[in-house]
Amino acid sequence: MAPNPIDELLKIHRLGNLISNKVLIVDDDEENLVVLETALEEKYRIYGANSGAEAIELLRKEDIDVIISDQRMPEITGVDLFRESLKIKPDTVRIILTAYSDTSAMLDAINKGEVFRFLIKPWDRDALFATLEDAFDRLRTGRAIRRLVDIVNEKNTALEKSYGELKDTQEKLIQSEKLAAMGRLTGGIIHDLKNIMTGLLMIEEEFGTNGNINKDELKEIVLIGIAGMRNFAETLKSINHFLKREELLLEKSLIDLNGVVKNVLSIVRMDLEFRKRDVVVNLKADLPPVFIDGNKISQVIINLVRNAVQATQVYGKIEITTGLYDSKIVFKVSDNGCGIPPEKLNLIFEPFASFGKEDGIGLGLYISKMIVEQHGGRIACASEQGKGTTFEIALQAERG
Ligand SMILES: Nc1ncnc2c1ncn2[C@@H]1O[C@H](COP(=O)(O)OP(=O)(O)OP(=O)(O)O)[C@@H](O)[C@H]1O
Ligand SMILES: [Mg+2]
Repeated sequence: MAPNPIDELLKIHRLGNLISNKVLIVDDDEENLVVLETALEEKYRIYGANSGAEAIELLRKEDIDVIISDQRMPEITGVDLFRESLKIKPDTVRIILTAYSDTSAMLDAINKGEVFRFLIKPWDRDALFATLEDAFDRLRTGRAIRRLVDIVNEKNTALEKSYGELKDTQEKLIQSEKLAAMGRLTGGIIHDLKNIMTGLLMIEEEFGTNGNINKDELKEIVLIGIAGMRNFAETLKSINHFLKREELLLEKSLIDLNGVVKNVLSIVRMDLEFRKRDVVVNLKADLPPVFIDGNKISQVIINLVRNAVQATQVYGKIEITTGLYDSKIVFKVSDNGCGIPPEKLNLIFEPFASFGKEDGIGLGLYISKMIVEQHGGRIACASEQGKGTTFEIALQAERG
């Protein structure tokens, strides 16, 4: 036999038995009462009452499941007793014992839901047991459904509560993430400002101790200062873009990528650390022009080269290459630096993902990816921890 779905749910929710198996029999005729009690005792826990008053008393004390009552009693009818019983124990099943002559009263009571069944006197044993079986079935199902509805409500309330808590925690997390991001941003700005200040202080000092400062030296210091300023401005711009999350405005023109790379190299050469690396540049001759925003793509190349410098030690190798593959213009920066741990590799393009750097903001690659993708190009990274890293950018070559 297929399992009853309600029984299954009861089992799952460990609701156990929902019925007490207690039957209250009410009859003013002592003999009838004893006969009924004896018949039902083998299967149910029986309570007998000779009067309505006694029945009410028992209903108050015991958790009765089913009431069987005679209809005709001296001081109260069975139906009236049931009406009273509903005020004390509404959750019972009520069966009346009656003679034919009472049918209209019975129908009325059944229609009002006060009586579950009526049994005609003299009652038949099988019919009595079958009726009781039905009564308990109905009781069990009704109580189970009510309990299950309660459980659903309880779970709903708990769910609503935990959803509220989740939202609170999430908001707190966002707040603290924002604060941490602000910390990193101000850290980056302070770092850039310090570099500029150091340059200016050096000039001041040179002027103080040595009136006729070497022209080349002064030029170098000023150029480094300007590069620092440019960096500073780029950082501020990136932050601004990130905070506004707006589309970048591209000012595209048809240009030669090799030219862009050469320009970038003249800028990054001002960085003393860059000069301490072994830099190899391989630019493919006769590259077709690309339709790009030269300043934005320069920013991408600067970001990649700066990362390569930061990842390598003095005399570390950095290779900068351009090439043409399948009508795609490719730009590559490779280094033999520290590499990126595999578990970090899919995070590096996320905003504020910076690892192993004291003053990294973690916007360089995020912005670079955004710029490349707005050009309809792709940026990819391959890295092996301890061995090195390659970043590759592919842009669509302009068709003649
Ligand atoms: N060439 C590289 N070699 C090793 N790790 C790299 C390399 N390039 C990027 N990374 C890793 O990826 C992270 C994210 O780079 P990204 O340029 O976005 O941020 P950042 O350099 O930390 O800060 P900034 O915003 O100043 O550029 C770096 O912190 C670094 O851990
Ligand atoms: Mg960077």
